[in-house]
Amino acid sequence: MGGPRHLVSIDDLSLTEIQGLFEHASRFSENLHSSADSCRGLISASVFYEASTRTRLSFESAMLRLGGGVVTAADMGLSSAAKGESLADTVRIISAYADILVLRHPSEGAARLAAGYSEVPVINAGDGSHEHPTQTLCDLYTLWIEKGRLEGLDVVLSGDLRYSRTIHSFVYALARFGANLVCVPHAGLELPDYVVKRLREEYGAEPQAADASRLGDLARASDAMYITPTKPHQLSLYTQASRGARRVDHVDAIYMTRPQTERFASEDSANDYVHLDTMMMSGEALAEAVVMHPLPRRDEIAPEFDQDPRSIYFKQAARGVPIRMAILAMLLGRIDISSSSVTRESLHPAWWGTNPCPNLGCVSHTEVRQAPPMFRVISRFPLRGVCGYCSRELIIGIVGCRGRVELYSPTSTEARRIEPDDLLLFRDEEEALALGLGGEPTPTDG
Ligand code: NCD
Repeated sequence: MGGPRHLVSIDDLSLTEIQGLFEHASRFSENLHSSADSCRGLISASVFYEASTRTRLSFESAMLRLGGGVVTAADMGLSSAAKGESLADTVRIISAYADILVLRHPSEGAARLAAGYSEVPVINAGDGSHEHPTQTLCDLYTLWIEKGRLEGLDVVLSGDLRYSRTIHSFVYALARFGANLVCVPHAGLELPDYVVKRLREEYGAEPQAADASRLGDLARASDAMYITPTKPHQLSLYTQASRGARRVDHVDAIYMTRPQTERFASEDSANDYVHLDTMMMSGEALAEAVVMHPLPRRDEIAPEFDQDPRSIYFKQAARGVPIRMAILAMLLGRIDISSSSVTRESLHPAWWGTNPCPNLGCVSHTEVRQAPPMFRVISRFPLRGVCGYCSRELIIGIVGCRGRVELYSPTSTEARRIEPDDLLLFRDEEEALALGLGGEPTPTDG
């Protein structure tokens, strides 16, 4: 295979590698000035199509601390993107100017696309509302320092769980480390179904939802949080055990997020958004709960709470430098984290009539020519696949095989026998027929 190693999803790292990054970050943080030879002569390029303070500056600071140099396109409005250049071409060019590329982009799956065009490692610094793996490493590292472990921690996730990319990468990692997830979303901004499905099916984790429209309700009347489903459409989020009511009498961390209004649809609203202050944090259940936030904050956390020793969001942001030093040094081959890395199912070109990725925010819809649809098989029987860029599950109503005219049900044994690279995926039979395929679909076995 060869090619550089990228960090596009938090799932690109094994748990042992993440632990190894923590250890190197701790070493770097002991003296931020003592590693100036690690990446001497190497250049990192920041390519930011969206606003950033912490992520870009901490990456650049990390590279400078390692003795490397930095080139920056911090406002892509000033670059050739303004002249209509594609992301793919931009990445090809910049990867010739630098040894590593740090990319932030509004389209989901943009970093995966970039990785396909880059000669050097690509780090995803946030792709739309999809993922933000390096923020998650910073968050996990902070929790690991503060709590000494990740396994078994009770973590409350609050606010905009739908569009926050920091939340998505964080919940995948917390689930893999065996932490418990309690969701307190703003109404309408619950964890997306595809994230819940992945938590459930890939990591065996079941996020619980707390019956608190405002975070303060968690700790108000009593010292415990009662978890009871209130909205019928949320029932699928609950485990059987929590369908009645479940009590959580201890919280290790509360992770706040701002409303991601820049990604809101017209029906979304941030009215009466969660707000945390010192009074709300007075309950016994929250006595040891550290409060985290990827920042920037708006009104989610009262400034008065900054004085409380449980507020650790500024420390969390500061730790962005040592953890990003470790990430850069690892991907540039300057530190060795010996561990078997994650092997993921490979990507296959998707042969079909229309792009079946249901996510219109996916880069396969925004960079149509440069992002040919790709998919990853997640189950062969019945056949299920996700978009290779944005991870959203594809709607596969019927399948065919290259070079044949017959159509098959995705639950048929025939469909199972087709090599992934030869699969033709269709939303429905009508679409397949319009492309000249036909014949009776084989009966469903499952
Ligand atoms: C986050 C982001 O960009 O997703 N910021 C960050 O990187 N620290 C969170 C946010 O913008 O709300």
